[in-house]
Amino acid sequence: MQITITKNFSFGGLPSKVVISEGLPEGMDILGAGERDFPAFLAVCDRNTESIAAAMLPDAALCVLDAGEEAKTWASVERVLCAARAAGLGRDGLFVGVGGGVVCDLTAFAASVYMRGAALHLVPTTLLAMVDAALGGKTGFDLEGVKNAVGTFYPADGVFICPDTLDRLPLREWKSGYAELLKTSILGENGFFARAGAIGDIALDGLPESAPQRGARRTALLACIAEAAFFKCGVVEEDPRERGERRALLNLGHTFGHALESAAGLGTLSHGEAVAWGIARACELGCALGLTPAPRAEAIISILNTYGYETRAPHPLMRDEGAFMRALAADKKRKGGAPRFVIPVEKGALLISQEKTPGLRGGEGEALLRGIAMNDYR
Ligand SMILES: NC(=O)c1ccc[n+]([C@@H]2O[C@H](COP(=O)([O-])OP(=O)(O)OC[C@H]3O[C@@H](n4cnc5c(N)ncnc54)[C@H](O)[C@@H]3O)[C@@H](O)[C@H]2O)c1
Repeated sequence: MQITITKNFSFGGLPSKVVISEGLPEGMDILGAGERDFPAFLAVCDRNTESIAAAMLPDAALCVLDAGEEAKTWASVERVLCAARAAGLGRDGLFVGVGGGVVCDLTAFAASVYMRGAALHLVPTTLLAMVDAALGGKTGFDLEGVKNAVGTFYPADGVFICPDTLDRLPLREWKSGYAELLKTSILGENGFFARAGAIGDIALDGLPESAPQRGARRTALLACIAEAAFFKCGVVEEDPRERGERRALLNLGHTFGHALESAAGLGTLSHGEAVAWGIARACELGCALGLTPAPRAEAIISILNTYGYETRAPHPLMRDEGAFMRALAADKKRKGGAPRFVIPVEKGALLISQEKTPGLRGGEGEALLRGIAMNDYR
């Protein structure tokens, strides 16, 4: 019997359904059969997810974009909007994004502005998109090299997660997504960190070949994806527009990670690799400030090492220390002029701001942050 789990959320009053299923969802399910009737729809995918979109929605008008972050541009949005017009979508039409975070963000942005807002369903096909990008309503595209410089809040009416679509995902993308899954598990409770830690082998080597083992591992993967996806949606429900502190916790590892991505050159590291390194730095910062118990930091860094993430400082690809420190200071999550950091604590994590935290303020704080990035603070 196939497992299907459905949960309904509400983001700032906007309903959003998440469906997680073992087998490929039926085209009619994705199109919302039985709930709403869409007279026209458009499926958006990229070159690497075209076959998945065509298998799920054989009769769909398809808009096939180039793959990767380079395609996350206004030009791609315009292509989607023009394809929607050509497919005859009115305000009652449906956009279906089938792909990784790039396709999901682009399709969601296009849906949010098309005729002042059309229906949106997303079928995430990377691990990262299943546990993060397709959920929670942030949409957007990059402008003049600035990531997600333009965007809207526009939750998908339905998100259809099917781990079967990961079968051909390149190992680098598994590793990138697994770092986000681990991040969520650090924030979660009731042993989620241990459960997520136990599936790292699948995330990095793929599923075992033999049928009985494969089935069991696939079920464990599906359970962890569901736990991470529902955790994120629960957090977003409480703080849909990141006005409070709750949603900001999802940025664990991102302050150091984004700065590393900038210093190493955008695209050099995968997002997950940078986040994993950032989580290790957040652990060290937490220990230095007396907030993270040493055994907790060791457990987190040990899992990251086990699955092949670079956790040492300075990162071998950090070419320019000055660029790193400038990027850290400019991190877009900062508030009141000072960066904020998410620090793992005994259970879950804590958001701290540089200006309000003793030991992190002023020159002393700058020296500590630099020392943690360069491994010369002790
Ligand atoms: N909206 C949000 O809340 C949010 C959160 C996190 C990340 N993001 C965004 O997500 C993007 C990163 O997402 P990503 O890591 O999924 O990258 P991606 O969408 O670029 O996908 C990575 C690569 O995998 C390919 N691919 C996708 N699915 C595949 C499959 N099933 N089999 C084989 N190849 C497949 C893609 O074509 C691409 O080449 C970034 O732009 C980031 O800003 C958004």
